[in-house]
Amino acid sequence: MQQSMQIEIIKELLDHLDNKRTADAGRIVVNPTSTYTDKALAEREWEAFFKNHPQVLGMSGELPKPGSYMTMNDFGVPILATRDEHGQFHAFVNACRHRGAELTTEAHGDKNRFTCPFHGWTFANDGRLLGVRQSDQFGKIDKNCNGLIELPSEEKYGLLFVHPQVNGTLDIDALLGEELAAELAAWELHRCEYQGESVLDKPLNWKIANDTFGEVYHFNSLHSNTLANLLHGDTLSYKEYGRHHRLCLANKYLDIMRQQPEEQWSLPYAGAVAYYLFPNVQIVFLTSMAVLVRIYPNRKEIGQSLSRVSHYRVPQVQQFVPPADKVNAVTNENIYDATNTSAPMDLDVSAVLELFVSTVEHEDYYMGTKTQSAANSGKIDHFLFGRNEPALHHFHNNYRSALGMPPLEEYRGG
Ligand code: FES
Ligand SMILES: [Fe+2]
Repeated sequence: MQQSMQIEIIKELLDHLDNKRTADAGRIVVNPTSTYTDKALAEREWEAFFKNHPQVLGMSGELPKPGSYMTMNDFGVPILATRDEHGQFHAFVNACRHRGAELTTEAHGDKNRFTCPFHGWTFANDGRLLGVRQSDQFGKIDKNCNGLIELPSEEKYGLLFVHPQVNGTLDIDALLGEELAAELAAWELHRCEYQGESVLDKPLNWKIANDTFGEVYHFNSLHSNTLANLLHGDTLSYKEYGRHHRLCLANKYLDIMRQQPEEQWSLPYAGAVAYYLFPNVQIVFLTSMAVLVRIYPNRKEIGQSLSRVSHYRVPQVQQFVPPADKVNAVTNENIYDATNTSAPMDLDVSAVLELFVSTVEHEDYYMGTKTQSAANSGKIDHFLFGRNEPALHHFHNNYRSALGMPPLEEYRGG
């Protein structure tokens, strides 16, 4: 993100902090709990947002060089994504053209060709069928017509996109909109280095999982012993971009940074920046790490979802260098004990990531499973979204609008 924009947002966060304000949705709304339990609705959302909607497979760094590949099967189509010898990204259906076996089940790896484990047909990483074992048994098979089935795909702004339908339309600029596209471009995500992945398969609907990333109101209670020691709860900068939005949270190191010259300010050190891409993607920047979260419904069990959390190092992020007298040793063990006289510079990125995932799993998603149980009970017919939870208003209204449902009703007391 451009430095001028970072300074603008940091000033907004400081203003919020100093005046005890936060982002304001301007209204309170009611969200029916059937959103999280209705099977017919789940079928409609699957068709609209997963089966027939562009999906983010990862950041460019997940396929770091020619020959890199990765697989996944999260939205109804087994995917084999590759980077061919020319560096071109492809997304194929991970199914052999003989009788459909998966070519590989490895999550990540390096290979220029894939030999099917079933009967040994071989394919290049650009999809061409190279070899048919005992080919005389298949007569005059046309290799040009029996390559891997390729899906529409595009690598843009450092993200890997695919459309799950062969005839689907992938227009990334139309999908993101001009303003968000420019902002994402400025983050130079193509330079993020892939570090690994955590997968959380939990008993909560994907939208409840999504909701946990949409507000900071819970920080001072649910995360009182963890994230709230690092980030200010109840302080939020919020911006919408069509169906997408951006949250900026205030880090306690902001209290050190405010004493420094503006040209040294760095938003990922002043807080956390979280982009939400409709319907199921979060990109979170915190210090020099980035986390990409994608949340998928479980088609058999509406109250279950899978979150794929990919970790990256962001090499180009501007480091915030605090004054020497403010630098206390913040170790991996006491990261959450950091006070506003400590600096984040000593933090091991992998430790931050581990704590991020552990907090999401043991606090956010744990609470989400309780929320799901309440919805499942049928005894609570709605949840409330307060004025301080604008991202929840935004997501659910967009979700409803896309499915032809009326907007969330305003809560008028009672
Ligand atoms: S299914 Fe792949 S070679 Fe038979
Ligand atoms: Fe949380």
